[in-house]
Amino acid sequence: KKVVLAYSGGLDTSVIVRWLQETYNCEVVTFTADLGQGEEVEPARAKAEALGVKEIYIEDLREEFVRDFVFPMFRANTIYEGEYLLGTSIARPLIAKRLIEIANETGADAISHGATGKGNDQIRFELGAYALKPGVAVIAPWREWDLTSRETLMKYCEEHDIPVDFSNKKKKSPYSMDANLLHISYEGDILEDPWAEAEADMWRWSVSPEEAPDQATYMDLTYEKGDIVAIDGKAMSPATVLEYLNKVGGENGIGRLDIVENRFVGMKSRGCYETPGGTIMLRAHRAIESITLDREAAHLKDELMPRYAKVIYNGFWWSEERKMLQQMIDESQRYVNGDVRLKLYKGNVIVVGRRSDDTLFDENIATFEDDAGSYDQKDAAGFIKLNALRMRIEAGKGRDLS
Ligand code: ARG
Ligand code: SIN
Repeated sequence: KKVVLAYSGGLDTSVIVRWLQETYNCEVVTFTADLGQGEEVEPARAKAEALGVKEIYIEDLREEFVRDFVFPMFRANTIYEGEYLLGTSIARPLIAKRLIEIANETGADAISHGATGKGNDQIRFELGAYALKPGVAVIAPWREWDLTSRETLMKYCEEHDIPVDFSNKKKKSPYSMDANLLHISYEGDILEDPWAEAEADMWRWSVSPEEAPDQATYMDLTYEKGDIVAIDGKAMSPATVLEYLNKVGGENGIGRLDIVENRFVGMKSRGCYETPGGTIMLRAHRAIESITLDREAAHLKDELMPRYAKVIYNGFWWSEERKMLQQMIDESQRYVNGDVRLKLYKGNVIVVGRRSDDTLFDENIATFEDDAGSYDQKDAAGFIKLNALRMRIEAGKGRDLS
C-alpha cells in the first residue's frame, strides 16, 4: 500500500507522514508544490527524508497555476459571494491533479491531505481526486485521528521521532493560513469573533491604505484574449504578471478583505485575505471588456459568473459544468485585446483609460456633439413607444402601475 501526501513540510503534514506510516503501515510519497506561497519548498526534501520518505516530489508549479487556473478564472471576473477572489479554491484542483498524476507514476492507490473535516479544502482535494481517478482511496487524517490540539500534536512529535524544528516555532502564526501567487488567507484564532478587528500586524502582503504612499502609481496593462501579457509595455509570463501586481498592489494598500463567507459544508466562516494582484486584475479586466465585449455577451457572462464562482468554491473544477462554462467564457474573450491604464492610490484601483484595436466604442455614435454617425435620434421615439406598449395596455385597462 502506497499513499501520496500533499506535504507542506510544516508540523501538521510532518505528523501526518509518520501517522500514515504507523496507522496504515504504508509507504508515503510526498508532494510539495511551489505555488508562489513565498516560502522555500526545497527544505521539505530534508524533512521528508528524515521521516524515511523515499519518493519525494518537489515542483515549481507557479506558471501552470497562473496560466491554467488563475487566468482562466479571471476571464470570467469571478468573485464568490460578491467579495472573495477564490485564492485558495483555485489552487486545490491543481494540487489534486498532481497528487493523482504522482499516484499513477508511483503506483500508489491512495492520496492524503492535511485539510480538516470542517472545511472546503477537503472537498476540493477529494472531488478533484475522485474525478481524475475514480477508484482512488482517500485518507484524511484530520477526520480520523484525535490529535486535535497543538499540545497533542507536539506530544505525538516527541513520541514518534519527529524533529522539533519541524514545528517552526519562531514564526508560528496563530492563524490558519494558506498562500499562493493569488492570495494569502487568515482564519481562526481571534478572527473567530466576527466583531473583532484583525490585528494590524496580521497582514503580510500589503501596507494599510493609511500607510500607502501619498503619490499615486500609474500602470498600463496589455491584454490579449482576456489575459494580461504585458505591463508598461514589457512582455511578462503569467506568473511574473501576478508577482509584479502583488508587489505594486501591496505597496499601495490594495487587496485587503475581511469577510464572513458560507462554506460548502454549511457553516459560516470568517476569513481575512490579501489579494493585491487579483484585485487589480478584476478591475482592469472589466475595463478592457467594457470596450471590447458586446452588451449581451457581457451581461450573459455576468449572469453565469456567480454560478461559475460557486462551482470553483465548492470544488467542482474538474466537473462537466465547469468545462462547459469555461468554453463559453473563453469564447467570449476573442476580442478582449488592448490596454488599460490604472492609477493605484491608497487601497484604490482607479481606471483612468482604456483603448483597443477591437473597441466597440464609437465616438461618432456616442458623441454629445453634432450628429455625424449612423445613429438617428428620431429612431428612438419608436423604440421607446414599442417598449412602453405593454405598460400602456395595462394602464389603459385601468391597472394601477404606480
Ligand atoms: N475560506 C477560504 C476558502 O475556502 C480559505 C481557506 C483557507 N485554507 C486553509 N487551509 N487555511 O477558499
Ligand atoms: C481546513 O479546514 O482545513 C481549512 C479551511 C477550509 O478548508 O475551508
